[in-house]
Amino acid sequence: MQIRDEQAGDIDAIRALHTIAFGQSQEAGLVDQLRADGDSVISLVAIEADSIVGHILFSPMSAPFQALGLAPLAVQPAMQGRGIGSALVEAGLQRVAAGPWRAVFVLGDPAYYGRFGFEAALASGFRSPYAGPYLMALALGGPLPVREGRIDYAPAFAALG
Ligand SMILES: CC(C)(COP(=O)(O)OP(=O)(O)OC[C@H]1O[C@@H](n2cnc3c(N)ncnc32)[C@H](O)[C@@H]1OP(=O)(O)O)[C@@H](O)C(=O)NCCC(=O)NCCS
Repeated sequence: MQIRDEQAGDIDAIRALHTIAFGQSQEAGLVDQLRADGDSVISLVAIEADSIVGHILFSPMSAPFQALGLAPLAVQPAMQGRGIGSALVEAGLQRVAAGPWRAVFVLGDPAYYGRFGFEAALASGFRSPYAGPYLMALALGGPLPVREGRIDYAPAFAALG
């Protein structure tokens, strides 16, 4: 399995991947909108046997410090449970660490994202429409400069409702 940056020819396969993994087209549409808005900061694909079997995207957030949102993440259903999702998260976080970002936020299952160091407690002081036990944060380059304030995902997320 290889992980590399998204390329122009991957777009249709990424759309199909999210549609099948989530069982709906909302996340596929989100990826298209983030890309169209210039908000796809890091977009990585996992390739196996020349096929795209996984995808992860990071987009900028409005926050009191430079932060990215991790979403969406998907792995081909037939390929789940083999470490592809974890490899994408880890490769993505390595990329993030090389940039100016102080945090990554994610909305997801604490049992899954906790293994990468995301903590709901770290996100709990921030105001967000997604506030709650599924909103998690990972600090980068030291502790967060502040633990409260308003955070918002990129505008494309608003269309998700
Ligand atoms: C979530 C997802 C990306 C994980 O990818 P994956 O390649 O299957 O994950 P990995 O193989 O790296 O990790 C598998 C582990 O995660 C757990 N896991 C998988 N999906 C999970 C979920 N939704 N919630 C909690 N744990 C989950 C598995 O039980 C397994 O645990 P184990 O290592 O203790 O056995 C994949 O299942 C997927 O595409 N799901 C549909 C889309 C989705 O829900 N995306 C997440 C959006 S936040």
